[in-house]
Amino acid sequence: MRTKIHQKFSELFGNEGVWYTSAGRINIIGEHTDYNGGYVFPGAINVGILTEIRPNGTDSVKLFALDKNELAEFKLSQEALPEQFWARYIFGVCKEVLKRGGKVEGFDAVFAGDVPLGAGLSSSAALESTFAFALNDLFNDNSIEKFELAKIGQSTEHNYCGVKCGIMDQFASVFGKAGSIIRLNCKTGEYKYFPFNPVGYKLVLIDTCVKHSLADGAYNKRRESCERAAAAIRKNHPEVEFLSDAKRLWLDEVRSEISEEDFLRAEYVIGEVQRVLDVSDALERGDYETVGEMMYQTHFGLSRLYEVSCEELDFLNKLARKMDVTGSRVMGGGFGGCTINLVKEGLYDKFIAEARRQFTEKFGHAPKVYDVVISDGARKL
Ligand code: GLA
Repeated sequence: MRTKIHQKFSELFGNEGVWYTSAGRINIIGEHTDYNGGYVFPGAINVGILTEIRPNGTDSVKLFALDKNELAEFKLSQEALPEQFWARYIFGVCKEVLKRGGKVEGFDAVFAGDVPLGAGLSSSAALESTFAFALNDLFNDNSIEKFELAKIGQSTEHNYCGVKCGIMDQFASVFGKAGSIIRLNCKTGEYKYFPFNPVGYKLVLIDTCVKHSLADGAYNKRRESCERAAAAIRKNHPEVEFLSDAKRLWLDEVRSEISEEDFLRAEYVIGEVQRVLDVSDALERGDYETVGEMMYQTHFGLSRLYEVSCEELDFLNKLARKMDVTGSRVMGGGFGGCTINLVKEGLYDKFIAEARRQFTEKFGHAPKVYDVVISDGARKL
């Protein structure tokens, strides 16, 4: 990938640039909890975005997306969004740095990635973090704090791409560390690295290849449901700032005041907040059987209460359960994409072979399989 990027870079812009990269992410548990002020448990992975970039001494940004074979150009002062949707992620990052009083000058860049698109592995966060990191390094002497870099990516999604996402993906992609997953309290910003070395188990993603798109509104609707439920509970319990602050009993108190749909969404979130804590305890003990059981419970909640699963994901989850796979669930925003599976090494080959065979038989196309390697996040190369 590096050679191809550089070839294009010298063809379009001449000379040499500086290299930056960032990563996609997995999440062990804590799904749809980030925008509810709860915990998440992500880690960066060994697929990401790579760019060669160089200041060009003008007030324009010239970008070439190698995977799309497309060029985009915008002025740093312009208000209009770039036409190409992919360029909005970088446009947004520039604007959000400027909004915070940071410095951005014109630059040329060629980038490419190997995060499968639409698989729920946060290719967009990897793109945002790569450029947020690069602009901080090139123009701001690295004076913008790492957490702020993640927020710059998140605000880009909110303000330029139409997704009211939480902080998890950008956080993981900026803070990722090889061999460790990170438990983040999304309310306070406190985080802790946990070495992740499940001896005797493998972590594997199975991609349904059903494209998920968070920009279509279903994700934002989930968020609105949670906010309505939290507002209803807050009337009785003013200390509830986010839904994650609420006790299950407090949700029951307002059951008749909110819609059944909002109730189910909130029921899932309150359960998930507790599951992340149970998983942290289990990880400290090296008890991966409990981690796996919690993953199944999360899948049930995401499928039946939060309703962000789909037939293909449920099929893979059911097969995993039937084959005694330790843990399995839909990962990320949902509506398609991957299941994440914790599998005993001895069962791995058989499970993958069966999943491929049965899935293909039922849906007419093969799923893709990615072994997970927990890796470093945003950095200069
Ligand atoms: C997407 C969002 C994240 C998070 C997950 C669900 O990946 O970008 O902020 O809400 O969905 O956990």
